Amino acid sequence: MATTFDEKIPFEKNGLQLYGLFKRGDQDRALPLVVLLHGGGTTAAYFDNSAVSVVQNFHSLGHDVLNISRPGYAGNAIPASEKPMTDSIPVFIDFIEKVYTEKSSARHCNGGIVLFGHSLGGAFSLSITAEAQDRLPLLGVSALGCAPVPDRKILLVDPDPEPSNPRYVVETNPENIRKFMGEVEWLNLDALEPELVAQVFEPGIKSEIREFSSDEFYDYLVNRVYPAIRVPVQYLCAESEIVWGNEKEARPIFDNLVSRFTNAPEVDSAILPRGGHNYEFSLNAGTLWEKRKTFLKKLINKAASFSSNGATTNNIVKEGAFTSVPVIDYAEAASPSTRPAFLKALKAAIVNVGFFYLKNTGVPDDVQSEFTKQSIALFNLPLEKKLEIEMVNSKHFLGYARLGQEITALKNDYREQFDFATELPAPGPEEPLYRNLRGPNQWPDPKALPHFRAAIESYMDHIDKLAESFKSLVAEALDLPPTAFDQFFDYPQQNKLKLIKYPEPINSKANEDVQGVGPHKDSCFLTFLMQGTPHTGLEVQNKAGTWLPVKPIPGTLVINIGRALEAITGGVCTATTHRVNLRAENYKDAQGNSLGPRYSFAIFQGVSLDLGMEKINISIPQHIKDLVKDEKVRSDAEATFNQMFNGNIGEGTLIARITSHQDVAQRWYPGLLAQALQAQKDKYQ
Ligand SMILES: [Fe+2]
Repeated sequence: MATTFDEKIPFEKNGLQLYGLFKRGDQDRALPLVVLLHGGGTTAAYFDNSAVSVVQNFHSLGHDVLNISRPGYAGNAIPASEKPMTDSIPVFIDFIEKVYTEKSSARHCNGGIVLFGHSLGGAFSLSITAEAQDRLPLLGVSALGCAPVPDRKILLVDPDPEPSNPRYVVETNPENIRKFMGEVEWLNLDALEPELVAQVFEPGIKSEIREFSSDEFYDYLVNRVYPAIRVPVQYLCAESEIVWGNEKEARPIFDNLVSRFTNAPEVDSAILPRGGHNYEFSLNAGTLWEKRKTFLKKLINKAASFSSNGATTNNIVKEGAFTSVPVIDYAEAASPSTRPAFLKALKAAIVNVGFFYLKNTGVPDDVQSEFTKQSIALFNLPLEKKLEIEMVNSKHFLGYARLGQEITALKNDYREQFDFATELPAPGPEEPLYRNLRGPNQWPDPKALPHFRAAIESYMDHIDKLAESFKSLVAEALDLPPTAFDQFFDYPQQNKLKLIKYPEPINSKANEDVQGVGPHKDSCFLTFLMQGTPHTGLEVQNKAGTWLPVKPIPGTLVINIGRALEAITGGVCTATTHRVNLRAENYKDAQGNSLGPRYSFAIFQGVSLDLGMEKINISIPQHIKDLVKDEKVRSDAEATFNQMFNGNIGEGTLIARITSHQDVAQRWYPGLLAQALQAQKDKYQ
């Protein structure tokens, strides 16, 4: 009955004790290291016992396997912390890194790591992925039976019959046991001999389950971890889980959870039939193994060398992944003889890449240089002058935001910014509240910057014209009538301008990624970005998961697709994930001289605030749809849109602004803020 491993590796950090059971695979093949994380109320033997051995299964394929025995279980001291989950995530990351770099054969060829977690171990695996994907070569993550639901503290008996016991009372009610194991006829009863049960199952830790059931942890996991993951995800639950009894009950909860993986390049999700939470013990466990094996094989087949900048993430090559951002010549659009070539290049860029440089933009050099000069001058005003136009003054969410106020993908962004928009009057009291997204700008004191407003408005006028023309060019590139998209815009349409300064981060080390703005997709129709200084910093992620730098090219704008255009075209146009990376070397020129702060200026082309999914009825020609082979990509686009713009774009955007700028919301929309925060919790209960 002993579990099989070659080496027991103890580890202790921050008062948390754990160990790894390491089983060496085929050294010559150097396949990815498989890491297993068991759930609450079970031990590492869950993955390796006489009846069921996930360790043996992976080992038989040639992998090194690290089966982690978590703090509090199988002889490891029970964590003293109130937040044992939060506290152990960084400890797991350190431990996995240590085993990967010291023990695994995969380390010789950067073969990578794949995480498999069960139950709470699934929640850990996903959290580790989100937190460590820039540090460890994680190829993918698979979670089974991790179905967080807010406010379901059902595992703890209330009132607690043994408050002094840190472990919860063992469940003996057969009805509840079936919830874990599934119906009796689904169970591998031979596997449940008392000796094995004693080895595999151990009463869970109360503090752990309390933390997992808390609103804070739910919010962390579902609203921060899931969307932050940028590697392939396998997300599996059983037909009978702790929080549901059958597939019908499961479906809305499960689909909601799956939809939160908005940045994962692929999500292989399934509700596994005829089995319970501890699916390994069902008669149908073979289905689970086939799923895991297929997921792992796919990751290996596509694994490739690390990206050129040394980033250790997402090193999987997909067919058709772009390797550079194309440059398109806008001058070609003007002449009938070159227009077909222009449209062909535009089609390739918007379908395959989602990003392109545009040269010969028609924006006069002097307009652009005066705009840049005035924008930088605005940042250089004394802080008190900038605070005169702080965003909190504006119910339209326009104005100044100080350094480090925004959070993207779990971390604070390192930038200072001003939001402006097409100058529009505030809406009347009879109009829907979301129209408050439109309104007048907060202009800086003209005594301090007399030429600022004219310079900004002149530049915005030129970009508005360009945006207007791309509305029809994109339609034509997709073989639609030039006016096909007109119905999706307001008249006048509000476009937004964001002026951004990224100061050089203090104390950053060479070759270390520093988040300027975390990985995200824009939500607009198109973004028109001017990189105001020569810094490299903007990076886009191709379908292989590799980050490619979008170096500034003088005289060009960078144009990229937002989620609104992606949704309007049913996913045919790609909204591509991008980020700003403030590595120390990005702040030096070729001679090693400092470039000073990085500035970039983005204009986001809006769409109608009244637009809802039901109004999107464009029929894209089949030959264009065929360019995107992956049906899933298209259906995901629609799901994401519905998720983001619940109702219509105006309502969805207002709620998004309210939750991301809570200081503004507290002042102008206190009732709605409270509702929005409550709704976030209640939505899928
Ligand atoms: Fe962006």
